[in-house]
Amino acid sequence: MSEFKELVFSGVQPTGNLHLGNYLGAIRKFVALQQSHNCVYCVVDLHALTAQLVHEDLPGQTRSITAAFLASGIDPKAHIVFNQSRVPQHAELAWIFNCVARIGWMNRMTQFKDKAGKDRENASLGLLAYPSLMAADILVYRATHVPVGDDQKQHLELTRDIAQKFNSDFSDRIAQCGLGVETLVGNEKINGYFPLTEPLIEGPAPRVMSLRDGTKKMSKSDVSDLSRINLTDDAETISKKIRRAKTDPEPLPGDLEGLAGRPEAENLVGIYAALSDSTKEAVIAEFGGQQFSAFKPILSELAVTVLAPISSEMRRLLDDVTYIDAVLADGGERAGVIAQKTMKDLREIIGLL
Ligand code: TRP
Repeated sequence: MSEFKELVFSGVQPTGNLHLGNYLGAIRKFVALQQSHNCVYCVVDLHALTAQLVHEDLPGQTRSITAAFLASGIDPKAHIVFNQSRVPQHAELAWIFNCVARIGWMNRMTQFKDKAGKDRENASLGLLAYPSLMAADILVYRATHVPVGDDQKQHLELTRDIAQKFNSDFSDRIAQCGLGVETLVGNEKINGYFPLTEPLIEGPAPRVMSLRDGTKKMSKSDVSDLSRINLTDDAETISKKIRRAKTDPEPLPGDLEGLAGRPEAENLVGIYAALSDSTKEAVIAEFGGQQFSAFKPILSELAVTVLAPISSEMRRLLDDVTYIDAVLADGGERAGVIAQKTMKDLREIIGLL
């Protein structure tokens, strides 16, 4: 039970091109949530510095994610779209959270272990502290819901740990300042300043796999461009990639169990289900027994129908840099109003003059 006003926040890093997995796993959910919630969608450019400080074209990447948001149907007037570094309160709150979170919490993050690899001593301090900045992104707006992929679940748990520790460390001060919202933590009612944010992970296609290897996630860093459908691919390229997608020689099975041990078949069925807002069961019911030579053209037509308008709108927007930059400036200003209020409250709670 929490009485925090519901607000959705999510962030996407401006590194590499967006692909079908990002669209189905994240952006499409961002679009749908606009109907039920106030939403803040952020291109997290400061996060992009954690793994690699110098980027070839950071402004271009930031604009490209923004264009993908807009082309997919995110409304920057009704909601907020901006890039993180425009609102300095993200970094300011991240510092406070660096002092709330424990080093042990950060060391346990599997994404840090994966990204840092064997040479942990040589990873940037920013890469270790990354989840603290992510918690700040979310909590500077006191967001209650965050649509993310399942790989971000652990970071969301950490965000809750930070919120909870802050709420309990400062519960008296929060009450004294009259800034708390009554929240239930276990069986105890406390005056919390931060909500315990919920991840929104469910959905028909949480994992879109590589078109070349059904056991690997579709990824922007895969060397083979045939392994993924980029959001900027035109109709012809989309069809070609689906035509050349790896499959096995069997026809589609007659029931869901028949997909077990057939990762490529399962991936294509999952993509069809997600693109058509349906389920794998329904797709199997319709196409079970058919050869891939029959299924692939139908899948390809569906993918082109859904994605080609987005890719052409993206290309149109990317030719209009002035418009994109104006959207980010306007979003940054409106986000800044909320973030400044949070930092003002926090200065009072913490005792920073
Ligand atoms: N860590 C997220 C990712 O790599 C990106 C991100 C940064 C984010 N801040 C966020 C996602 C806040 C949701 C909310 O995908």
